[in-house]
Amino acid sequence: MPYCGPADLPTLVLRVQPASGNVVGGRYSALAGIRRAKAGGGDPDKQEGDCRVHGPDPAVVDLRSDTVTRPTPAMRRAMAEAPVGDDVFGDDPTVNLLQERVAAALGKAAALFVPSGTMANEIAIRVHAQPGDEIIAQADSHIYHYETGGPAALSGCSMRLLAGARGMFDGDAVRAAVRAPDSHLAHSALVLIENTHNRGGGSVWPLADVAEVCATARDLGLKLHLDGARLWNACIRTGHAPADYARHFDTVSVCFSKGLGAPIGSALAGSVAAIQRAHRFRKMFGGGMRQAGIIAAGALYALEHHIPRLAEDHARAERLATALAELPGVRLDPPTVESNIVIFELDPGAGTARDFVARLREHAVWMLAIAPQRVRAVTHLDVSDAGLDRAIRTVREVSAARTARPPTASP
Ligand SMILES: Cc1ncc(COP(=O)(O)O)c(C=O)c1O
Repeated sequence: MPYCGPADLPTLVLRVQPASGNVVGGRYSALAGIRRAKAGGGDPDKQEGDCRVHGPDPAVVDLRSDTVTRPTPAMRRAMAEAPVGDDVFGDDPTVNLLQERVAAALGKAAALFVPSGTMANEIAIRVHAQPGDEIIAQADSHIYHYETGGPAALSGCSMRLLAGARGMFDGDAVRAAVRAPDSHLAHSALVLIENTHNRGGGSVWPLADVAEVCATARDLGLKLHLDGARLWNACIRTGHAPADYARHFDTVSVCFSKGLGAPIGSALAGSVAAIQRAHRFRKMFGGGMRQAGIIAAGALYALEHHIPRLAEDHARAERLATALAELPGVRLDPPTVESNIVIFELDPGAGTARDFVARLREHAVWMLAIAPQRVRAVTHLDVSDAGLDRAIRTVREVSAARTARPPTASP
């Protein structure tokens, strides 16, 4: 039975209708999605393109992140029909299957399904490090920037940050950062690599560089964790298998809710001993889930169907980067765009990132201001060629309007 036939709609309307009639956080209206579905006859699989039941609002090109995707009708059906059990007892067959698939894809002995990439990373740190230990990571890493100080709060660890272009560094940098064995100093325990690198503009680590850094770290007696939230994108770009990267690390986290388009979920993979420890910390961090097969089914569907199509996201990101780089006041080197993330700088004369993003938003194109002069755009499953064309037209128009404006008089 399809997940959302017309008969289900009245109940869904009641459930999703907040006081404002809108889903919090954007122009997207679940009610509008439902009304479109009713008008279009209701069967999600008979609808095309952007007109999915509860799909993205076709009026908006949302390039803020690849996490904004809505599950496709087929993914929703897989979720609705998934066999489930209580995963805290290890009884959920869909979660167990997902964990087996992830472990196999990464060439690891075991894997653990967790709610988020953040939890996967923070559990990995807790698995490998003790309070008072120090973690070595690149200064722009997600774990340092966006995980709310988790390594300090959850594992009692300090972080030693490395410089490095576009999120990457080499073995010498690790060697220089390791503390000497001295009772006054923190104990260097773990090296983190992020691939692709989010704040690095979706940069992709060459496999040889990963191997070099990891060999150095191992010589120094350090553990290694890969934040592979977008490892799938790195593999599509390089042609390497996920296991080719993963074999250099003790643990690897991967996400299903970024480019792969699942609504929720990440996994941590490693040795049986590491994943047994991770299981304990997942429970401690509040990540034990019950009939989680419902969401694991979305992740499984994504793994089976949405990896090869990441190449389309990369091609669109490249096209967007080329168009942006031609605009006056925009600084971006298109060859540095290697996957689905486009980060560009605005010259001060072109206004602030916040203004630029606000002007785009007036035309229903959404990007993210990530620093005073820096903007991020990310392509994903819900950005079509037509949507990207519209985004490109809009950035050109907004940029031209800015250039045409008379200079403001000095006070
Ligand atoms: C590189 C990287 N790692 C980890 C995460 C955290 O994932 P989540 O938002 O599922 O916690 C993100 C989120 O965007 C990310 O970009």
